Amino acid sequence: MNGDLERLVLSGEQIQQKVKEAAAWLDERFAKADTPPLAICVLRGSVFFFCDLVRTMQTPVQLDFMTVSSYGGSTQSSGAPEIVADLSASVQGRDVILVEDIVDSGHTLVRMRELIEGRGARSFTAVTLFDKPSRRQVSVKADFSCFEVGDEFIVGYGLDYDQQYRNLPYVGVLKREIYEKKN
Ligand code: IMP
Ligand code: MG
Repeated sequence: MNGDLERLVLSGEQIQQKVKEAAAWLDERFAKADTPPLAICVLRGSVFFFCDLVRTMQTPVQLDFMTVSSYGGSTQSSGAPEIVADLSASVQGRDVILVEDIVDSGHTLVRMRELIEGRGARSFTAVTLFDKPSRRQVSVKADFSCFEVGDEFIVGYGLDYDQQYRNLPYVGVLKREIYEKKN
């Protein structure tokens, strides 16, 4: 385990097991879709979850990407997520599957939903790898959440602290001393 971690939360195998459940849930939901849903990866945190999820699904989907930044080099959301890079496809009339890494304050998910519904999507389904309900500032819930976590800062499998630790193949709690030095 990486030395900056206090403890392991999930192994790669545990994550893959849940990815299968999330993919099966989406396959069932979109079994009767007449056109392929558009799966949107919210970069950068959901990159590995997104890739594993869409490759496990049986339903044909199209893919698009959006880069959203909410943190800077902190562990607290700014409350005003910024769209750094927008989608290339139009969401007008599409069934959209938004794939998030973690719903924390909820600001990012609310912003994404307003944006995508505002652009005329036919439906909006949010799937998140992690949910931190104790930290919510705005009332919002993903349609499918893989794991619930407490008020701890986690990294790995896409999740970062100041752009580090994303490529760890597992998820763990970051030692407080790592971010308390800086924040
Ligand atoms: P929200 O807008 O506060 O819900 O924040 C969502 C974003 O905050 C996520 O997409 C993550 O990038 C980041 N985030 C929240 N909690 C954590 C965490 O425990 N580890 C790493 N990133 C986190
Ligand atoms: Mg992040």
